[in-house]
Amino acid sequence: MGHTSPSAELINQATELRDQLIQHNQRYYVHDDPTISDSEYDQLLRRLQDLEQQYPQLLSPDSPTQRVGAPPLSAFKQVRHELPMLSLDNAFDDTELKEFDRRMRERLKLGTEEGQQAALEYACEPKLDGLAVSLLYRDGVFERGATRGDGETGEDITLNLRTIASVPLHLSGDNIPPLLEVRGEVYMPLAGFKAFNARAETADEKVFINPRNAAAGSLRQLDSKITATRPLEFCIYSVGISESWVLPATHVEILKQLNLWGFLISPLLETAANIDACIAYYQKANELRATLNYDIDGIVFKVNRLDYQQQLGFVARAPRWAIARKFPAEEATTQLLDVEFQVGRTGAITPVARLDPVFVGGVTVSNATLHNRDEIARLGVKIGDTVVVRRAGDVIPQIARVLLEDRPSSARAIVFPEHCPACESALSRIEGEAAVRCTAGLICPAQRKQAIKHFASRDALDIEGLGDKLVDQLVDAGCIHSLPDIYHLKAAELAALERLAEKSASNLVAAIEASKQTTLPRFLYALGIREVGKATARSLAQHFGSLENLEEADGDSLKSVADVGPIVAGFVRQFFTNTDTLKVIADLRDAGVHWPDIEVLEQAALPLSGETWVLTGSLNTMTRSDAKARLEALGAKVAGSVSANTTRVVAGDKAGSKLAKAEALNVPTINETEFVEYLTSIE
Ligand code: IVH
Repeated sequence: MGHTSPSAELINQATELRDQLIQHNQRYYVHDDPTISDSEYDQLLRRLQDLEQQYPQLLSPDSPTQRVGAPPLSAFKQVRHELPMLSLDNAFDDTELKEFDRRMRERLKLGTEEGQQAALEYACEPKLDGLAVSLLYRDGVFERGATRGDGETGEDITLNLRTIASVPLHLSGDNIPPLLEVRGEVYMPLAGFKAFNARAETADEKVFINPRNAAAGSLRQLDSKITATRPLEFCIYSVGISESWVLPATHVEILKQLNLWGFLISPLLETAANIDACIAYYQKANELRATLNYDIDGIVFKVNRLDYQQQLGFVARAPRWAIARKFPAEEATTQLLDVEFQVGRTGAITPVARLDPVFVGGVTVSNATLHNRDEIARLGVKIGDTVVVRRAGDVIPQIARVLLEDRPSSARAIVFPEHCPACESALSRIEGEAAVRCTAGLICPAQRKQAIKHFASRDALDIEGLGDKLVDQLVDAGCIHSLPDIYHLKAAELAALERLAEKSASNLVAAIEASKQTTLPRFLYALGIREVGKATARSLAQHFGSLENLEEADGDSLKSVADVGPIVAGFVRQFFTNTDTLKVIADLRDAGVHWPDIEVLEQAALPLSGETWVLTGSLNTMTRSDAKARLEALGAKVAGSVSANTTRVVAGDKAGSKLAKAEALNVPTINETEFVEYLTSIE
């Protein structure tokens, strides 16, 4: 084996397979538009692997089989960057961006006064939070890749870069320059990062603090086989040296050409006609940020015209023609001043960190959740510690980690209470659950307040004006002891409360009156049965049609409801066999709360029975499991993959191969907005 020479036919076959695999790889990773299935791809790859194993002469370093890593190195070689790798100047607010634009205009003599300005276009792209690398291609073949290092000299990490699927080993297309260097960022997408850390945690191995560190740690492996197991991606943002390439006139056109040759470019790349459009782009991107599958730490604005870039030149280590507008930092360090314990609607005791106020994620944060007792143990945090606070998007601020080296000698242990901090009742912890709960139910004033707030909330009985502060006041003043008391509040009684004007008191009484006319799903959700969210409440209502039917349902019939498993069924049973809750329901009905029953349709008569739907991409207005529950409640099956039998595909943000497959199979697709409209029209 391996000593005979391959026939001309086999050589051809190997070349053909290699070309095909390169094309498919690019379609999948760079253009997000695959035309064959994963298993078909694997088959092609295996055929090539077999051939190469049989005839090692056929092996070339740019073969798609060579992404698995090579024998470990003892050290990285140094690489001198012929063109230094620069950094970027920063702008921290809109004013600084406008000043940047003004500087550009002055230097380019494009006019700075209103009404006398010539056009100055910018390229806008996200600032990816990873590691800068430079890739060198000779005759379209990947030859060498290096880290940025100090900008002048970096490290040769060719073998590691080879393992990244979106690093083309071989360029394709027309007029590929004989020498081409591209620059971009290697990063670890969030899904891969979370999966990696979850695995590391179960295996008791080192977890990475953030995706950036994970990308850096993965690229600095001397053993590229380790890098090969890490989910890394590579996206380019500029060209370095090149030979015999007549560069297009703008930055965006350069990137588009590089994309055609096989490199991934940011799908968010856009041009902005002026600096105001840049500011609008920044705001839009900041909103989008939480939905992206990778971390970005700002936006980079670049003067789009290359001749302008050349005129503007460089200062010290950064181009004059580009600027990064940073997003507010998502992490900051501060001191943990104290820990308080809050009681939630279901009695769960949540430790809340009181912090020395700190500016993070664009707001001042003085509280962060510590989730539960296990989390305190996991963090190993004490009062007085210096902690890293994280606030990403709209997520509740969290304590990410403790800086143990800064622990003062006065630091005190956090003592978890033995009794409910609101009512002194006993606490209990069900095995397998993280939460410690107060056992007093609605007797506990804290739980009562939360239950009332939930009952009045928008998706429940929607009592406008009955907000959190007012509920606290009403419970503290003894005006409300249980839910039905809401319906006996009098305008005079309300107006007597501090801070409530007569007008708003009478508005509130009207809102309370209006809330009596409701729907069964809203009412069920409002009751605050454990684990019964909006989607489950809707499924239960649709399945049983009336409250009486639901009250009588046994465990088995509850479990036959879409979205209800044994645990939820248990909570529902518990709720409807408790005499206290039954009395609350009876009193609410006596007070006039009412709803129409729902006509129960046989499974076969449900509007979507017989249909199979597929959900793909990320949804913004509901969770994937809510969407699934709603579809199932309407009689549809929800499948994981697209086939010719699929009725319809819902394509959320960043829908990938499933959307492509649906289009290839002519399966109708709808976006999230259309999906929500459709659901509301038939539910
Ligand atoms: S342009 C010649 N564009 O930011 C301009 N850099 O602070 C040099 N980065 O080392 C860089 N995304 O690692 C550019 N779209 C983007 C970027 C980007 C991330 C990083 C890059 C660079 C650092 C500069």
